[in-house]
Amino acid sequence: MAETERNIPQHVAIIMDGNGRWAKKRGLPRTAGHYQGAKVVEQILEDADHMGIRYLTVYAFSTENWSRPQAEVKTLMNLLRTYMKTSLAKCAKNNVRIRVIGDKTRLDADLQEAIRNLEQDTRNNTGIGFQIAINYGGRDELRRAAAQIAQQVQEGVLRPEEITEETISDHLDTAGIPDPDLLIRTSGEERISNFLIWQCAYTEYYFTDVTWPDFNKEELEKAVDAYRHRERRMGGLMQ
Ligand code: IPE
Ligand code: IPE
Ligand code: MG
Repeated sequence: MAETERNIPQHVAIIMDGNGRWAKKRGLPRTAGHYQGAKVVEQILEDADHMGIRYLTVYAFSTENWSRPQAEVKTLMNLLRTYMKTSLAKCAKNNVRIRVIGDKTRLDADLQEAIRNLEQDTRNNTGIGFQIAINYGGRDELRRAAAQIAQQVQEGVLRPEEITEETISDHLDTAGIPDPDLLIRTSGEERISNFLIWQCAYTEYYFTDVTWPDFNKEELEKAVDAYRHRERRMGGLMQ
């Protein structure tokens, strides 16, 4: 394998932060930042695919984001709705497989349906796996997993002593998807904000001051490059 292709992270997760600050800097409404940010996601998905990344997971709307002003929540939901309803042709062309993670039951019925259709229609695509986190919170995801597991115990199909770490992973929204190798957060904040808290136990973190609407292929390459030069360890001894 060529030197440049070595050590490409298999799964990259991104906390796309800073849309509001990007807009503010330009004297624009926050929503303008969200529109620009949405365009960037589509481009980065393509770039990630070309770079050989196999899974991309993006944080689009957290369980905590409902506390934002109603108009902003509406804009974000409408952007997601538009994406779900229009991206099928593009996914088919680029062989992208889509999965929405998060609690979908709180979303509007038409959005839920659009998500179901898109997931269903891209299910057999064999290219990059694209996970979009909507109404997602890591704690909420673990709570839902715990409830499902408890249900199985109550029904007598599972014994408490049979619960392994794998049992938990298998009940998360990301079941079947390898844990992220690299987590990127844009716009200067250095926290996880309830994103993939179980899955990122040994993920490498990369923070950049660049706001999400300004993020591009070069920035993604910088993050991947930083990752490639790190010595990953998972509690063992150095190789
Ligand atoms: C990220 O940008 C988008 C979402 C959280 C939905 P923000 O809207 O958080 O932008 P800042 O952090 O206020 O700049
Ligand atoms: C995290 O960003 C959520 C998303 C990017 C969707 P926030 O802007 O909501 O997080 P905090 O409030 O800075 O932690
Ligand atoms: Mg933010």
